[in-house]
Amino acid sequence: MTYAAITGWGKCMPPAVLTNADLATFLDTDDEWIVSRTGMRERRVSHVSAIEMATVASQRALACAGLKADDIDLIVYGSCSNDEQVPNCASGVQVLIGATNAASMDLNTACTSFLYGLSTATAMIRTGSVRTAIVIGVELITPYMDWTNRNVAVLFGDGAAAVVLQASDRKEGLLGEQLGCYADARQILRVRGMGCSYANRGVQYGDTLWDFDGQEIFKRAVKGMAQASEKVLAKCGVTPDQIDLVVPHQANLRIIEAVARHAHIPMEKVFLTVQRYGNMSAATVPVALVEALEEGRVKPGSLLLMPGFGGGLTLCSHLVRWGDRVTPLATSDAELPPCPRSALELVNEIRAAKTAGGASEAALMNTRFVEAGTRA
Ligand code: UT7
Repeated sequence: MTYAAITGWGKCMPPAVLTNADLATFLDTDDEWIVSRTGMRERRVSHVSAIEMATVASQRALACAGLKADDIDLIVYGSCSNDEQVPNCASGVQVLIGATNAASMDLNTACTSFLYGLSTATAMIRTGSVRTAIVIGVELITPYMDWTNRNVAVLFGDGAAAVVLQASDRKEGLLGEQLGCYADARQILRVRGMGCSYANRGVQYGDTLWDFDGQEIFKRAVKGMAQASEKVLAKCGVTPDQIDLVVPHQANLRIIEAVARHAHIPMEKVFLTVQRYGNMSAATVPVALVEALEEGRVKPGSLLLMPGFGGGLTLCSHLVRWGDRVTPLATSDAELPPCPRSALELVNEIRAAKTAGGASEAALMNTRFVEAGTRA
């Protein structure tokens, strides 16, 4: 039996930090509400495209695995905030890292895109169709945010991370997963303006309106992640006390606490980033995984549970056996260009463009990101 070992990992966090106090300068909100309802204190705002963040994360993951770009057979780019639809974004990363032998695909299941990507790439390695893959979770949400809507504007942030998978005879990497989707409730988490179907309904591309039923999403998120976790543990014959670390999707601290309670796993075994990064959608789980490794929370042979939830409403839980190595083989000197502005200045720039010029200005802004991202 062939397995897909995780042999490289890297993240790329944009440096500009948006605090709760920053949000309160233009929204009717405050630190006390945001912290008590979500656990979030800060999130990041990117000054570069998603492809650029994904590229730096991938270069760091490659160095960590001790591989060269042309060793890669497949790039899976998990995201719902793509810089472009055609050409796909994975090919943008491919050309920037120089992975000349790779196939490249984008995968969008919203916040669960990285985990669904992990399933996809692992399955392709198991069948022998590829031997080495990069799986990316990346999100550039801030240009698509409706900054007038306090229900959602406080929750999300930008970021990226990637892992390298390599075929292995040892029983490690993804051992099993439970995937699912509450499609009957797909309308309760919808961003109008990120697709073409709104053009005739008064919402232009780049000018977004968020349909977001927070309380219903909350309930479904807890139920979905708890049930998926229970099922994957049962399928793999694992009991909750055998889990060494939970690396969950981080949409809300209270959701994570409820899932851990349902799964009978103490919070000391749950890795948290929500307070520093908010919800980065597809980037959330891989960034948390990388930081758990950096902080020594993943040990050789650790058993990891990764529950996820997102738009669709997609849900999943993944069980991963870590291999022997928890330190990078090498490091990369890849860096983002310096950020000349504060996070609040970046957000105010987006807000001004949306207010002044409506959709066309916002779309123009997205174009600026795209051009940066496709710089070869
Ligand atoms: O990745 C998957 C996608 N997202 C999620 O999983 C998010 C799931 N949902 C949640 O995390 C929570 O439901 C929220 C954080 C979105 C909201 O928390 P809540 O405890 O469910 O609050 P609520 O919706 O019951 O709202 C309570 C009040 C409302 O005021 P009224 O109607 O009681 O007067 C809101 O208008 O809080 C108000 N409110 C705010 N107040 C200050 C909503 N957003 C804010 C805000 N600042 N940012």
